Amino acid sequence: MSYKSILVETKNRVGVITINRPKAMNALNGQVMSEMVAALQAFDADDAIGAMVLTGNERAFAAGADIKEMSGKSASDMFKGSFVDAWDDIRKIKKPIIAAVSGWALGGGSELAMLCDMIVASETAKFGQPEINLGIIPGAGGTQRLTRAVGKAIAMEMVLNDRKLSAEEALAYGLVNRVVPAERYLDEAISLAQAIAERAPVAAQIGKEAVNQAFETSLTEGVYVERRLFNFLFATEDQSEGMAAFIEKRKANWQGR
Ligand code: CAA
Repeated sequence: MSYKSILVETKNRVGVITINRPKAMNALNGQVMSEMVAALQAFDADDAIGAMVLTGNERAFAAGADIKEMSGKSASDMFKGSFVDAWDDIRKIKKPIIAAVSGWALGGGSELAMLCDMIVASETAKFGQPEINLGIIPGAGGTQRLTRAVGKAIAMEMVLNDRKLSAEEALAYGLVNRVVPAERYLDEAISLAQAIAERAPVAAQIGKEAVNQAFETSLTEGVYVERRLFNFLFATEDQSEGMAAFIEKRKANWQGR
């Protein structure tokens, strides 16, 4: 499939998707989002891929939803349309996704990074939810995922008063996994994705599902879900292989089934 607003490549077992609207600070219009979802779904269905990296350019991961595209819309347009459906579709991707963030991650851009399973940030990364400046609030999960990630106090400042977080602050508040020099952030994200992609594929996907359950359920229900997923993995060839490899002191040869 050919894309107009994203670039797609593979590096070993990693699928890399680059948002490519540099003149618009990678603003997320309908085309970017639908192409991104299509590319992620294609990688999700491809057994040769174990994890994905989502990135932008050095100046901007993404400066949010496309304000020019949204500006003329009415409430009923927004209600009837599928504006934020793409973010929900990304949530349904089973394989791990790592955001490689440099420069601005604002509004829907920050929400997109938070939808990923891990964030590798360049020292130049800046995270923010500036929707208040437009007379709106975050609409793609920002008020919820940000609050779970950084806590109520910081989330309130960001959503109500456009407080931006530097990369170091984002690390301190637990929003990102690691901060690396600008020239290395993408390589770092790809090598982290490759390391995960070399692990037991079904267990990696199930592990993602189990951790995400922690945000959806009570502790009792979450532990119950975890137990069922844990038990299920004993039906996989990879469980037999992984345990045999440990006992035989050799490297496991994962089959992904
Ligand atoms: N939508 C559309 N176009 C955007 C954009 C956006 N979110 N962000 C930047 N652009 C465009 C600018 O309009 C400009 O285009 P022109 O050259 O045609 O004028 C171009 O990108 C470069 O931007 P700037 O000249 O503003 O660059 P800068 O370096 O001075 O500032 C910035 C960079 C701080 C990111 C600034 O562009 C900015 O504040 N952007 C808007 C951020 C924002 O409000 N995001 C939230 C959007 S709403 C949302 O995301 C809702 C949701 O929850 C889903």
